[in-house]
Amino acid sequence: MEVVVAKSDVTEIEADVIVVNLFEGVTTPDGATGAVDTALQGMISDLIADGEITGSASELTLIHTPSSVYPDFKPARVLVVGLGAVESFDTDQIRRISASVIRKLRASGVKRAATIVHGAGIGGIKGSAGAQAVVEGMLLGAYRFLKYRTTDKKRKPDVESLIIVESDSSKIDAIKSGVEKGIVYSQAEILARDLVNEPANKLSPADLAATAQRMATENGLACTILEESDVTKLGMGAYVGVAQGGARPLKFIHMTYEGDATDPENNLWLIGKGITFDSGGISLKPGAGMGKMKGDMGGGASVIAAIQAIAQLKPVLNVHVVCAATDNMPSGTAQRPGDVVTAMNGMTIEIDNTDAEGRLTLADAIGYALAKDAVRIIDVATLTGAARIALGDGVSPVFGNDDDLVEAVVESSKLVGEPMWRMPLDSVTKRQNSSKIADLKNTGGRGGGSTTAAHFIADFAGETPWVHIDVAATSMLDSTRGWMPAGATGVPTRSLIELAARLGK
Ligand code: BES
Ligand code: MN
Ligand code: ZN
Repeated sequence: MEVVVAKSDVTEIEADVIVVNLFEGVTTPDGATGAVDTALQGMISDLIADGEITGSASELTLIHTPSSVYPDFKPARVLVVGLGAVESFDTDQIRRISASVIRKLRASGVKRAATIVHGAGIGGIKGSAGAQAVVEGMLLGAYRFLKYRTTDKKRKPDVESLIIVESDSSKIDAIKSGVEKGIVYSQAEILARDLVNEPANKLSPADLAATAQRMATENGLACTILEESDVTKLGMGAYVGVAQGGARPLKFIHMTYEGDATDPENNLWLIGKGITFDSGGISLKPGAGMGKMKGDMGGGASVIAAIQAIAQLKPVLNVHVVCAATDNMPSGTAQRPGDVVTAMNGMTIEIDNTDAEGRLTLADAIGYALAKDAVRIIDVATLTGAARIALGDGVSPVFGNDDDLVEAVVESSKLVGEPMWRMPLDSVTKRQNSSKIADLKNTGGRGGGSTTAAHFIADFAGETPWVHIDVAATSMLDSTRGWMPAGATGVPTRSLIELAARLGK
């Protein structure tokens, strides 16, 4: 979908539909909705008086306005969308209603749509932020993963173009910059979704590395791929242990955006878990739902996607992305429960359960980042089923050893509508990772599964400021929610972009 900004009156815009809005409880619309109401001789006010339009959240009312009846009104239809209560209005609400609008427009066969920016000025929302949220809601809400559906003939085609209309020329520049950001943020989140939705037979570690390499070239980023022999030489025994059961070779992806060449210490390392399929290994997972483990590279997808947007937005800091990609498979060469491996930093790990593989790959990815003088580390991982038990699938648990960095991550997530909540790293759960025969064990027993996993990673981050985001529950959804369709959500790609923008000011 092409998105453009136009300075125009809403009544003058050449489009199949113009989208206007109404807050709950408003009886006489003003602004753009008022202008449409006047042009239609009070039709919207009449529908409000009749109780057909109430302004409740995501209420959609489609009105046909043929030129034979309304010669002075250019759009062929009007869609009035309810914004809900003004007190609870925010950018999440804009994204949510924009997602339902775009799906309604597609279902109605609209090709060329126009919309105003909803609620700018309400609740302190600036025109640029409002425009960004409209564009994100529309682009993300329209997302579908259809590449393997070849026989579906009844499918409605996507809306072709979206015009953001504003009559006040003094607001156009702000809206344009919001639209630009909305496109960049959304395209990145969509890249992450595409990678997560891709079946494991179509996305090997090599395929993931090739995608990263291609995207890096297109965006002027450096990209280095290390092979098994390279990471073995570096001493990444924990990562290699996970990979050794699989037939598809591991690929260690390192991408770099240089936004502050004079100060290499001004850096941010984004490390994503990259298990291209997690069968559990010898500690094999049960069959039901195992197919979802094609998405166990969701953390890696989100960091790779984020650096695409970062390359385009150009914040003033150096960003490194690392993804230690591999399958986790059972076989005669697979690692066994009871094995002991040595990580890059020299720590030994007793493999209690081969299905706790993510933390093993992250341990060595962090070891690599520290060897290259990482100053701040964020890791993102579909790490534990316990994340869903703790917080459900609407909020990602976050852990960290640095209050400022944790706060920056959580604040960024709030702004973009990808909620996170900080969890404690207490000394009681930490002890659950103790091993009798090695420095650490890769599982921590029944209680606090997300916390013990985080403690494990914390031991490798050491004193360096570090935050861990567990997206096991939020990376994929069973059913559509707002701008997030069933399947991959792309979370927390936009949070990471926002964080880099904030740190790189
Ligand atoms: N990839 C899984 C976690 C996961 C579960 C992600 C469900 C998305 C949805 C991870 O590798 C795993 O298997 N974790 C185990 C850890 C356990 C063996 C300590 C888990 O959560 O059960
Ligand atoms: Mn696992
Ligand atoms: Zn896993």
